[in-house]
Amino acid sequence: MGRVGIALRGCDRICVNDVEFSSSLDGVDWAALQATLAADQFDNGRTPQEYRRSHERSHAVVFGRCNGRFVANGRILSDGVCNAYLVDIWTASTHRRHGIGREVVTRLLATVPGQHVALFTDDMPAFYTALGFRPQHGGMHHPAAETGPLTQRGAMSGRLPAVEVASSELRV
Ligand SMILES: CC(C)(COP(=O)(O)OP(=O)(O)OC[C@H]1O[C@@H](n2cnc3c(N)ncnc32)[C@H](O)[C@@H]1OP(=O)(O)O)[C@@H](O)C(=O)NCCC(=O)NCCS
Repeated sequence: MGRVGIALRGCDRICVNDVEFSSSLDGVDWAALQATLAADQFDNGRTPQEYRRSHERSHAVVFGRCNGRFVANGRILSDGVCNAYLVDIWTASTHRRHGIGREVVTRLLATVPGQHVALFTDDMPAFYTALGFRPQHGGMHHPAAETGPLTQRGAMSGRLPAVEVASSELRV
């Protein structure tokens, strides 16, 4: 994925006027990604090596960078046929409400056309609603999987209903 200009309303001092989006794992500085996420309070304890493995084993990933620094990230898991799961969607606090998170999710959904896309989240329902996701009742989880420190942040909490979207019906 190439460089895509996004007009940053009220652009902060760190970024110029665009974000570079990439789905490539080549040359990713996993320690920098982990440190950036941790500094922005979006970290569930993964080591840089575990971040690398998480991304390598995902169906698709998106990184957003400003001047070489991470400002956004997201991943989607998929069986490649009919079921997908959205995880780790993040925009840096300094860069929110400029359409960056929408761009990340839109790019990830484009890789799973026609598939059922689910996610679990305790956070930011307004964001996902704006992107076309809708609550889907009937979700279940396995609590034994939640005892480790690396449980996906916000996932499998069981506190909120799942939200889902059929990507072919996405209205973004
Ligand atoms: C959720 C998150 C990824 C959104 O990223 P973002 O780049 O700010 O999102 P966008 O600017 O693309 O927002 C798209 C739309 O979502 C909605 N939205 C986003 N943030 C919102 C907020 N804080 N309150 C209400 N609506 C919001 C708006 O409709 C927005 O469109 P608008 O700005 O034109 O009104 C970001 O806030 C974040 O990283 N939060 C911390 C991590 C997190 O909670 N991730 C999600 C759970 S895993």
